[in-house]
Amino acid sequence: MTTTIGQESAKSVESVEARLLRVRGGNRLRGEARISGAKNAALKALAATLLTADEVVLNSVPMIADVLSMAELLRAFGAEVEIDRERKRVTVRAVAITRTTAPEHLFRPTRASVVAAGPMLARCGEVSFALPGGDRIGKRPIDLHLRGFERMGAEVRITGDSVVARAAALQGARIYMDYPSHTGTENLLMAATLASGRTVIANASAEPEVVWLGNLLNRMGARIAGLGSPYITIEGVDRLHGVAETVLPDRLEAGTFAIAAAMTGGDVTLRNVREADMLPLSEKLREAGAEIWYWDDLMMIRPGTKLRAVDIQTLPFPGFPTDLQAQFVALLTQAEGVSRVHERVYEDRLRYANELRKLGADIRIERYGAHGERLSTTAEVVGPARLTGAHVQALDIRAGTSLVLAGLVADGEVAIGDAYHIDRGYEDFVAKLARLGADLDDPGPPAPA
Ligand code: UD1
Repeated sequence: MTTTIGQESAKSVESVEARLLRVRGGNRLRGEARISGAKNAALKALAATLLTADEVVLNSVPMIADVLSMAELLRAFGAEVEIDRERKRVTVRAVAITRTTAPEHLFRPTRASVVAAGPMLARCGEVSFALPGGDRIGKRPIDLHLRGFERMGAEVRITGDSVVARAAALQGARIYMDYPSHTGTENLLMAATLASGRTVIANASAEPEVVWLGNLLNRMGARIAGLGSPYITIEGVDRLHGVAETVLPDRLEAGTFAIAAAMTGGDVTLRNVREADMLPLSEKLREAGAEIWYWDDLMMIRPGTKLRAVDIQTLPFPGFPTDLQAQFVALLTQAEGVSRVHERVYEDRLRYANELRKLGADIRIERYGAHGERLSTTAEVVGPARLTGAHVQALDIRAGTSLVLAGLVADGEVAIGDAYHIDRGYEDFVAKLARLGADLDDPGPPAPA
């Protein structure tokens, strides 16, 4: 475990100085912030534009590195893509698909790019791509996606790291997913819109972004029922048409700011929030002692009682989101008592705990194997801990923001290397925090995707 982190640190040494984000703790956050459109919805909506030759206009698209690289991927397939950064609008016209092989440099870095496979297969009957990468959190296979394509009649060949999928015509099918994979459900949902006949996805994901995508597809002419339940039924149609839509608010960004407000004893109002999407986090924040109020699209976090320990376990929605686990652990380092955190979505998503420990956090990961591999997905966090400045590394998007949050309550300066990870997932994160009164330096432009 320690060895792995050491190797990663060594690999990224060159970029550390360039991408060092410095945070100095002690300020309570105060004021208002507007939440951007959701990364995890915008990326799938961009992939969905490949299903139609008509124009699709997406508003409230977060201008972040992962989204821009998905736009490049669409262009590589032959789509015309206009990006209006000011208006946060992306317009796509996939009139003709001119290529079915995804360029590796665009496909591999962002795991979400895999959701382009379903639309490409449905529209062109063929797609080839390199197995996707993205954050290094566990194995993250795509077997559920590929098995679903096969159930719909596609022939899938994997050679080394590359995948080729072909289908003369996709057929509706009954698909059982061993696990309600978020992007897996989205990929199969999109593929099934243009398949002939009925597809049923059983044990489907009910994440808010999946429901939003399904509704977007229905507005494009798809016939999808059961969104938000474990059974989604899709009646295939001959064609989909254009649409203009606004991307739903990013519940993970809102959650990150809410946690930051609560752990600094701040008084913060977040705009553009959907209360229902925030349920698991709101419940746990209240249990930990924070005061949370909602009104219309506002979420208000007010100073509550002293923070106290709570247990969390991550699960598919409406369970506690794995993408807020690391940030919540940063808060738990400041809570009185012993909190237990059970990560049940990814087998390897507590590695960042080593970085929090460097700041003085008292976090115990339960068990290691003889060769240093982690055999447990449970952490115990003992608080409150006095955090102090140190040099740490962002390992992925969420682990990176967890370190920023820890920095907000640390004595001295926390310097976070590889901060570009944060730009991949959050729009204007540093500027928004600074406007709320946080003391931090902007690390500069994002690294190329
Ligand atoms: C999506 C989100 C990610 C979030 C995750 C869980 C996007 C772009 N990303 O990722 O931010 O952390 O949901 O809410 O929307 N699995 C398999 N086989 C598969 C697919 C998944 O075994 O074919 C396993 C994964 O290894 C993991 C678990 O299922 O342990 C969850 O993965 P999944 O729900 O697919 O996450 P993503 O869709 O990749």
